[in-house]
Amino acid sequence: MSAVATRSIAERLSSAGTANALELRGVTKLFGALAALTDISLSVSPGERRAVLGSNGAGKTTLFNCITGDFLPTSGTIRLFGEDVTRFPAHERIRRGLRRTYQISQLFPGLSVLDNVYLACCGVSRSRFSFIRPRRDDALLATAEQLTEAVHLRDVRDIKVAVLSYGQQRQLEIALALAGAPRFVLFDEPAAGLSPTERRELVEILTNLPGHMGFIIIEHDMDVALRVAERVTMMHNGRIFKEGLPEEIEADPEVQALYLGGGHA
Ligand SMILES: Nc1ncnc2c1ncn2[C@@H]1O[C@H](COP(=O)(O)OP(=O)(O)OP(=O)(O)O)[C@@H](O)[C@H]1O
Ligand SMILES: [Mg+2]
Repeated sequence: MSAVATRSIAERLSSAGTANALELRGVTKLFGALAALTDISLSVSPGERRAVLGSNGAGKTTLFNCITGDFLPTSGTIRLFGEDVTRFPAHERIRRGLRRTYQISQLFPGLSVLDNVYLACCGVSRSRFSFIRPRRDDALLATAEQLTEAVHLRDVRDIKVAVLSYGQQRQLEIALALAGAPRFVLFDEPAAGLSPTERRELVEILTNLPGHMGFIIIEHDMDVALRVAERVTMMHNGRIFKEGLPEEIEADPEVQALYLGGGHA
């Protein structure tokens, strides 16, 4: 066996059980001359809840796109539960328990709430390719019902998505991301456009997610981010410039100057 093969097995064994949910080392993403991400290194433990804050154009969504495999980083490595997934296509990362929500809605407006969740459950189940089904799969339907309840949409489960409020549609997007019992979820600005009441509901939904399910939430609303996250990473101009506990970040004069000083909607 070659030295390289021996080392890679040893590396995998040594990381088993102790691996971070997510580990980025030196990730850079260039769009032509524009550096959307520069030398990002980030570690998130299993079950950890992390907020990523930063003004418009800081690189937050690009970071998510590199983690999910929607973009290939220009350089650097990305590990998911100890495994190097840098070159893996998006579906291989989904198979390993990674999910995301998008800044823009990805729902079927003509279908009911429960049908949307059910289809998401079908989409990640083993038998996903038998799309035309003679009858509903009861286990998947039960899971869809649980997820609908977890995002506080039980009372509207038979209503068409098109007539839901904006806040309810965002809650539904969270249910879709939770289909297939992910291990790690990326939420891209789930609180954007929500009313104060809807924000409180969102905080409750995120707080009550299963403890083993880690996540990163991109958020402009400091209040939401600081209430749901255990650690906060601040980004600016494609770089990480600060990381710490929510109370440390909130009290940091540099963060206050930059964040309150401007740029974000
Ligand atoms: N596909 C792309 N092609 C070219 N440039 C891009 C692309 N995606 C993002 N960018 C640029 O990369 C930079 C970072 O964008 P990104 O969307 O990651 O920021 P963001 O922090 O998510 O901002 P926002 O808070 O507005 O969502 C921006 O200058 C943006 O214009
Ligand atoms: Mg963004």
